[in-house]
Amino acid sequence: MECNDQALTVQAFLGMKKRGERIACLTAYDASFSRLLDQSGVDIILVGDSLGMVIKGEQNTLSVTMDEMVYHSCCVAKARKRAWLIVDLPFMSYSSLPQAAKNSARLVREGYAQMVKLEGGRRFADTIRHLVEQGIPVCGHLGLTPQSIHRIGGFRVQGKDPEVAARMKEDAIVLEEAGADLLVLECIPRSLATEITRSLSIPTIGIGAGEACDGQVLVLQDMLGMGAEKKPRFVRDFLADTGRLEAAVKSYVKAVREGEFPATEHTFE
Ligand code: KIV
Repeated sequence: MECNDQALTVQAFLGMKKRGERIACLTAYDASFSRLLDQSGVDIILVGDSLGMVIKGEQNTLSVTMDEMVYHSCCVAKARKRAWLIVDLPFMSYSSLPQAAKNSARLVREGYAQMVKLEGGRRFADTIRHLVEQGIPVCGHLGLTPQSIHRIGGFRVQGKDPEVAARMKEDAIVLEEAGADLLVLECIPRSLATEITRSLSIPTIGIGAGEACDGQVLVLQDMLGMGAEKKPRFVRDFLADTGRLEAAVKSYVKAVREGEFPATEHTFE
């Protein structure tokens, strides 16, 4: 991996939040798309465990292994120059502090991850603290957390209930205090995402969480119109608008930066 002065950093994202500049993030799982996203101005590439669904064809993310995450992260890392690289810790790979440290170290060492992402609230505060103390940046993930799909009972909006919403707001603060540098908010009402975003100094990256988040993320295949048969409400097909891959990605980046995506029709109240 070569040194690049333009490469984005955690500090750059904090600066973007302060200046009100929105952060554009997309998932990728291979070198070709990584290069395309990087050259099209995407700020963060996420090697998500969504690869269980879009690459492996599973119904959920639960079967994804550490070896698979390392493999895909390695493919993506080699082709990016400017974009920041976040990689998911898969299901049950961070159940104890030693396990979280060992697996995060693998993602960094073998997969060249710059940051790891884990799903869950306050019960992972110690895990985040532990990783950050060893120099591994962490991205939190609240709201719809697909690794808990069987407990949640399906891919549905979270935080409509006032008690759940209040707990999520507290969780967000706990994760920031534990040392998380970014926070993904998935499928929550826009008012809740707005409150959480305003209460934190670290950037929030929304997916189905409304326009007030500091950045947006989509699964690549979804924004290219190749996702599930029934398009989720929060997805916009940018390839249908443009007809070319590079133009679609550039159009996504522009729409995020200019606050045109997500629009009201992509948002949950
Ligand atoms: O796995 C993934 O791609 C994700 C995003 C949907 C945020 O976690």
